[in-house]
Amino acid sequence: MNRFIEFQAQVEAIKARCANGEITEAERDNILRQTQLKDETWGDIWLLSPKEQWFRKANGSTIWVRDYPIALVEPTTLPPISEMDARQIARAVYDCTRCSLCAERKRAVPGEGPVPTDIMLIGEGPGSHEDQQARPFVGASGKLLEELLGNIGYKRHDVFIANVIKCRPPGNRDPLPDELAACKDYLDRQIELIAPKVIVTLGRFSMARYFPGASISKIHGQPKRIGDRLMVPMFHPAAALRNPNWRPFLIEDFKRLPDLIKEAASFHQETITDAAQLNLF
Ligand code: URA
Repeated sequence: MNRFIEFQAQVEAIKARCANGEITEAERDNILRQTQLKDETWGDIWLLSPKEQWFRKANGSTIWVRDYPIALVEPTTLPPISEMDARQIARAVYDCTRCSLCAERKRAVPGEGPVPTDIMLIGEGPGSHEDQQARPFVGASGKLLEELLGNIGYKRHDVFIANVIKCRPPGNRDPLPDELAACKDYLDRQIELIAPKVIVTLGRFSMARYFPGASISKIHGQPKRIGDRLMVPMFHPAAALRNPNWRPFLIEDFKRLPDLIKEAASFHQETITDAAQLNLF
């Protein structure tokens, strides 16, 4: 039997003891916090909250993150990517063999964050820490990203973070065209589901999706409207760490995000009004 299903049953039994009045809610929460499952393949630790939310502490990390065990997504029933939900995408990405990067990756990195949400950040691809933990931006660039989000009152779990490629290229080399193409359907579907008001591209590979041929030093921080959404190109945090002269640009560009979200929300409102006038609602 799947260990995660067994674990779910164990949690249900603890919750039932509380519902029957055998233990208080505080006792239940305490027991649930200590009831943890170790994933024997990766060494990650999992727990399930009273509100039925799964959390994962990746091997090598000290942080609990909202996640969902792919062992609970039935791989045999996956629909086409264009019809997948966020969990099914994660499952498909973990098992993906669409390009040769699957041969050398430890773990694929589908991306993480709430679905839907206002801001989506799209970076380049996993590095060694990400490959180890199956989480995006957990190394030095991730620390800077958290600081930049903190400056505007956001936490990293408020935004969705993904990459243009889901598996680490050997030696952190640039992604190749066929690798970008292999991941494109996953990212397109994620964007559809997340429905962000603002997409921030971090670095040149994600910038190229919306600003082909542009130079980041010329266009960083300048939003472009596509449909109801604003695309904002920014320097990659790793570039700002390598070249401290770029850091102030990144800080200033991030500070504009709250206003850009409001601006994009007004586009959405315009569309609803237009649709209402056409009796579409
Ligand atoms: N750089 C990226 O572009 N993505 C990551 O996930 C980590 C570093």
